[in-house]
Amino acid sequence: QNNAKVALLGAAGGIGQPLALLLKQSPLVTHLALYDIAHTPGVAADVSHIDTRAKVTGHLGAEQLADCLKNAELVLIPAGVPRKPGMTRDDLFNTNASIVANLVDAIAKNSPKAIIGIITNPVNSTVPIAAEVLKKRGVYDERRVFGVTTLDVVRSNTFIAEAKGLDVTKVECPVIGGHSGITIIPVISQCTPSVTFPQPEREKLTVRIQNAGTEVVEAKAGAGSATLSMAFAAAEFANSLLEALNGTEGKVQCAYVRSNETEAKYFATPILLGKNGVEKNLGIGKLSDYERGLVTAALPELIANIKKGEDFVATQF
Ligand code: APR
Repeated sequence: QNNAKVALLGAAGGIGQPLALLLKQSPLVTHLALYDIAHTPGVAADVSHIDTRAKVTGHLGAEQLADCLKNAELVLIPAGVPRKPGMTRDDLFNTNASIVANLVDAIAKNSPKAIIGIITNPVNSTVPIAAEVLKKRGVYDERRVFGVTTLDVVRSNTFIAEAKGLDVTKVECPVIGGHSGITIIPVISQCTPSVTFPQPEREKLTVRIQNAGTEVVEAKAGAGSATLSMAFAAAEFANSLLEALNGTEGKVQCAYVRSNETEAKYFATPILLGKNGVEKNLGIGKLSDYERGLVTAALPELIANIKKGEDFVATQF
């Protein structure tokens, strides 16, 4: 088995803690390195008592970040502030942009070959931020930088199964585009098994998937955004990547990556995973007219989100 050191940055947070728990349960992780600016010793001590194979280390504060990252194969980043009711993911930009830029800068120095999975919102902008920082440091490999959008697929599968009375474990609906509002595009026409809805129902379902994060923000009433389902989705994505790194072929996950599929430089599509991260972008595939309209509607916002991230690194980093 390969060395599978996974570094988790923001490990003491609402997403970080359950994600640490799920990664500790993964047979593919040999070393779980937990980093945060607060509370990491406690989380690390707690998780380290679980009798699974992964060794756990805790790293607290900027001076311990290098050690956390050294020799990591995969770095997951949920560090940052979450949404409160009334906020969009883009409202998080000012705080989270510099957190992500600084963490990715440390990755460029200490584990430049690591695959990076970015969870910190707004993902539409934080992924371009990561790419620009890596470019600045001369270590950018577009195959190795992912925005984790698995939760959009997880939600789509759940809602479609509910609507159709299907076994949810057998439902797989690709989601393309970005990871915020109308940029989230569930491709229900490509769902397995094949499902059809009358147009009003299809629209309602699409809008629910696009606003599902807000559903959680409102239900949590000020206590943050999705953490448990996000951690579940991130662990699923991480395990697929680790399997691919270990040589398992055929692993496919939707993720937000550098892309030539549309005029947006970054776009989520199904990705065949391999030893270097993106093995092959499987592309958008065939869309219904309605879904094509959703892509057209999403592109201006997505392109603006990307530019905002790139401009941040050009002017403020
Ligand atoms: N380096 C490392 N960790 C940091 C930093 C930093 N510079 N700044 C903040 N953190 C940590 C916090 O200490 C906290 O433990 O990030 C964690 C964030 O946890 P929460 O506030 O509970 O937020 P969470 O719900 O986990 O969401 C984090 O993920 O999905 C996104 O929109 C969400 O952007 C938000 C992020």
